[in-house]
Amino acid sequence: MPTPWRSFMIWTLVVLLVTRSKAKTQDIPSIYGPIQQLGSESTVDAGKYFKRKPSDFVHPGIWHSHDDLERIRNGVLKNKEPWASAYKEFSADFYSQANYTIQGPVAYLSRGAVNNYTTFTNDVRAAWQNALMWYITKDRAHWQLTSDILNGWGSTLTDIVGIDRSLLIGLEGDLFVNAAEIMRWEGNWTESGASWTGGSGFSNQLYWLFSRQSAVIGQANYGMVSIKSLLSFAVYLDDVDLYNYAINAYINGRCAGVFSLYEPSTGQSSESGRDQSHATSGIGWTVLAAKTAQTQGSDLFSLGNNLLLKGAEYTAKYNLNYTVDYDPDWYRCEAVLVNGPWANISEEDRGVTNQRPIWDMIYYEYVVKRGIHAPYTTEAVTKEGFEGRVYKNVDDLPSWGSLVFAY
Ligand SMILES: *[C@@H]1O[C@H](CO)[C@@H](O)[C@H](O)[C@H]1NC(C)=O
Ligand SMILES: *[C@@H]1O[C@H](CO)[C@@H](O)[C@H](O)[C@H]1NC(C)=O
Ligand SMILES: *[C@@H]1O[C@H](CO)[C@@H](O)[C@H](O)[C@H]1NC(C)=O
Ligand SMILES: *[C@@H]1O[C@H](CO)[C@@H](O)[C@H](O)[C@H]1NC(C)=O
Ligand SMILES: *[C@@H]1O[C@H](CO)[C@@H](O)[C@H](O)[C@H]1NC(C)=O
Repeated sequence: MPTPWRSFMIWTLVVLLVTRSKAKTQDIPSIYGPIQQLGSESTVDAGKYFKRKPSDFVHPGIWHSHDDLERIRNGVLKNKEPWASAYKEFSADFYSQANYTIQGPVAYLSRGAVNNYTTFTNDVRAAWQNALMWYITKDRAHWQLTSDILNGWGSTLTDIVGIDRSLLIGLEGDLFVNAAEIMRWEGNWTESGASWTGGSGFSNQLYWLFSRQSAVIGQANYGMVSIKSLLSFAVYLDDVDLYNYAINAYINGRCAGVFSLYEPSTGQSSESGRDQSHATSGIGWTVLAAKTAQTQGSDLFSLGNNLLLKGAEYTAKYNLNYTVDYDPDWYRCEAVLVNGPWANISEEDRGVTNQRPIWDMIYYEYVVKRGIHAPYTTEAVTKEGFEGRVYKNVDDLPSWGSLVFAY
């Protein structure tokens, strides 16, 4: 069969599987579609970032390596800035309390036409913040709360429905697995239900429901949510193939990979014409993917001449009310789904706010750690103010950048 026809048929099958099936923990794993090589367009050999065997993974190693956690803890204990001030707010936050009242678990959740997942959103945030609280304070009460949330949801949530379930898994699932990674590798946490005959708890859910059945890589910001979370899940599971698949998608994906998101010379986002909220969050999710690769020993931040920083600078500049060059031909796959392509850059949601907390991560990585001049990102950090509690969409981004992502 000629190759284009074969790919067409494979894709049709994938689309049918994805749209017709409901994700259940007892389903067989679904397949991921092919991510093709960009070849000379990106001139990056993704293979050099691949893992070869399970023991190649570094733990803890998603957003927070052991050294990262120590830096946070020492900053707080030694009263060093920015950690000390950030910790004052963080430790007082609702989601950081060991006596947080767990809202779940429930068996079925939906994101899409029906949205009924906020119990999970709140609980995973409490799990992640309490895992960090435990690491910093070593107070066992925080460890226990995180363990209870991981075990409760891990053994109860079996089905996620709705067309946006990839987002739910990619956002909530990522906070959840980061909490588990800290607990497992720093706190000796073992999930309940673990056994050689196959577990019934957290990792079982992570493998079947989150990694294999429900997350598809869509377009632009949405696709990057899946890529960054698949990287995280792969690290927890020591899943060599999944990790390599997600790394390849990050580099070579034509609809959600980094080279498809940011225009190589200006850094314009493929969603700049859509609205500034999607353009901004998309950058945050790309940074988190690069962060995970970094704890695994790969530098994706510098790809394409720091393309990700170029993207941040462009979006920071426009959102700080400066003028930028806009190219209407640089737009995302399936723009038509979201009323595009767009003749002009969008004014919608224009502005810099700590309710879209992405700027600290970028500033600390590029400006503080790497010493790269990034005037608009730097200005955005100042305009944004303290990245603390997000009041709406608490699932979107981790926030607390000056505590957890500072150097
Ligand atoms: C939870 O603990 C905090 C201090 O950690 C305390 O101020 C608060 O009153 C407690 N809340 C409940 C419901 O016990
Ligand atoms: C959420 O909605 C889905 C779809 O309608 C339903 O199957 C599920 O039981 C609901 N879950 C909760 C906790 O309300
Ligand atoms: C985890 O287990 C190791 C080996 O038994 C032990 O040395 C370490 O203190 C434990 N850590 C915690 C946080 O319990
Ligand atoms: C941009 O301009 C708008 C409208 O004049 C203003 O409300 C907003 O504060 C400005 N934003 C920044 C970051 O200066
Ligand atoms: C887009 O920008 C062009 C050039 O600035 C302007 O003429 C046109 O009215 C704008 N279109 C919309 C829909 O704002």
